[in-house]
Parts: sequence; C-alpha cells; structure tokens
Amino acid sequence: MTEPDRYSFRRYLDAKRSVDWRARNPRVADAFRRALERADEPVELCEIGAGTGAMVDAVLEWTGNTEVRYTAIDADSALVEAATDSIADRVTDRGNGSVGSAGAAGSDGSVRVDRDGAAFEVEFRTGDALAHLSDAEESYDAVVAQAFLDLTDVQSALEAVATGLRPGGIAYFPITFDGVTAFLPPVDPGLDDRVERRFHRRMDTTEKVGGETGDSEAGRHLLTAIPATGGRVVAAGGSDWVVRPSDGGYEADEAYFLHHIVDTVDSALEADGALDDERRRAWATTRHEQIAAADLVYLAHQLDVLGRWPPAE
Ligand SMILES: C[S@@+](CC[C@H](N)C(=O)[O-])C[C@H]1O[C@@H](n2cnc3c(N)ncnc32)[C@H](O)[C@@H]1O
Repeated sequence: MTEPDRYSFRRYLDAKRSVDWRARNPRVADAFRRALERADEPVELCEIGAGTGAMVDAVLEWTGNTEVRYTAIDADSALVEAATDSIADRVTDRGNGSVGSAGAAGSDGSVRVDRDGAAFEVEFRTGDALAHLSDAEESYDAVVAQAFLDLTDVQSALEAVATGLRPGGIAYFPITFDGVTAFLPPVDPGLDDRVERRFHRRMDTTEKVGGETGDSEAGRHLLTAIPATGGRVVAAGGSDWVVRPSDGGYEADEAYFLHHIVDTVDSALEADGALDDERRRAWATTRHEQIAAADLVYLAHQLDVLGRWPPAE
C-alpha cells in the first residue's frame, strides 16, 4: 500500500484493532475477566476514551454469562457516532438486541444485546470522561481505559478513576504506552534515535483534552500512581505492539495503521521544530516507502495494568 492521500483517525482506530488483539496481555485480561465474573450483577462499567468501541467489543465477548451495563465516553462526537453504529450494526445482523436513541441525560444513544439471561447494555456519551468520573454523580464497579493514559497526566487521571469507582472497584488499563518506539530497518541510527526522543518529548509537552500534557512513560507511572491513589496493582504485564510483514504484506488494515503512525510521528516532529525540515521529510518518505515495499517493522512498548481500589478501612 502506498502512502494514503488523506488520513482518518477513525480508520486508524479500526486498523489498530488487530494489532491490539495480538498485543493485549492474556494474564492481565484473564484477571480482569475473573474480576468481572465475581462482581455483583449487573456490573456497571465506564470506559473512558472509548474511540470507535474496540473495548466494547472485547468486553461483550468476554462477559457472555455476566449482566453488564456499559457507559462508553469519548470527547469526539464523530467517534461516538461511529462506535454506536458499529455495535448497532452487529446487533441488527445477529437479530439479538435493540437499538435505542438518545435516552438518559447526556446519552448519545444506547444498544442492548440480549444474551440468554445476561444482557449487555451499552450507552454512548460524548464528553470529557475524566470530568465525568471526577464529578462522581455516577459511580462504577469497573473502569476501562485502553490506549488512553499516555494522553494525560497519569496521577490526576487515576484520582478521577478512584473518585468514580465504588469501594472495591477495579480498573483495567490495556495498551498503555511506555516509552519505546522503534522502526526497523534503520534509516540512519543517529537520526532514528533523535526522531524517537523528539517524538516522546512532544507527547510530554503537548496539551490534550482536559488541559493536561501527555506522558510517554504512562505505563510505568501507573505502577506507582495506583498505590499513590489508594489502589493496589492486581496484575501487570507487557502488551507491546509488534507489526511486521509476512508473505509480502501486512495483516488486515495494518499497512494503513503503519502509514498513520509514521504520519503522526512526522506531524509531531514538524510541530516540535527541532529537526531540520528536509531531514524530517526524508525520514518520513523512507519509512512510507518501507511500508509500501513490506519491509518496515514497528515496535511500541506498552503495559497492561489491572488495579483495585479497596474499601476504606
Ligand atoms: C488513542 S485513542 C484510543 C481509543 C480507544 N480506547 C482504542 O483503544 O481504540 C484515545 C481516545 O481518547 C479520547 N479522549 C482523549 N481525551 C479524552 C477525554 N478527556 N475524555 C474523553 N475522551 C478523550 C480521544 O478522542 C480518542 O478517541
């Protein structure tokens, strides 16, 4: 696949799904599933930064025998609409559910999936998910945030999570970026190192939704921020993205995923301004060409972490 003329964040999130499925840490995912099975039903769960609903699909698959009420929040209304349509289409195709329009205050839409005695209801909302948890008007048995915490300050995000959880509640943070980005084969080792450093620095200094800057080492910071906010780390493990060619191509829509990642790094470096424009553009062109030739390998180090906030003694 040659470099696309246009980039779409929605397509990127959909293309990322197959990469995430391979990467998620099975031990941490199992611990999360077991915690959901043991919780009182219906389990009330809030996902923050839900994007196009990748984790809605995963939790739907993981909780066949458990009744779940799922609130999925994202700041971007176009993504919320895409997530609602995607689950609604799936329910309509299977003929085992119903699709509601906006109902409760703040709701953009809802979908109910009937699964023999263990219904799965999901309500989609547009808004600042951390502000929603901090307001504590609603509380949850579980919070999920996939590929989200590197966009914000981990400590303040966890304070919001701890506020929004009921005593004894759990939070699952899969695909949390943790400070390593690598593209192979090398273009120029000195330049590649500089690209990685400046890209991470840009994450650490750019303001995101809610006014916080990002955190390029969010994964490891979680391991200390959970106890610092009164929680306990229940399980943790690596969930690195590894995207590599096989049989002369990439799986599913992963060539697009790679072009999008290279474009994201390139745009961050352009905004950062530390690298000479010509060298930066030449670096990005070579990486796009490596994808088109099915030569590029991409690695990103990430952690999956499950935490529990026990009742106050
Ligand atoms: C990298 S995407 C991950 C999306 C999804 N969790 C996934 O893994 O496919 C991060 C998402 O967080 C959303 N987001 C960022 N800050 C937010 C906030 N404060 N409240 C709600 N959503 C937010 C963005 O709109 C984006 O969809």
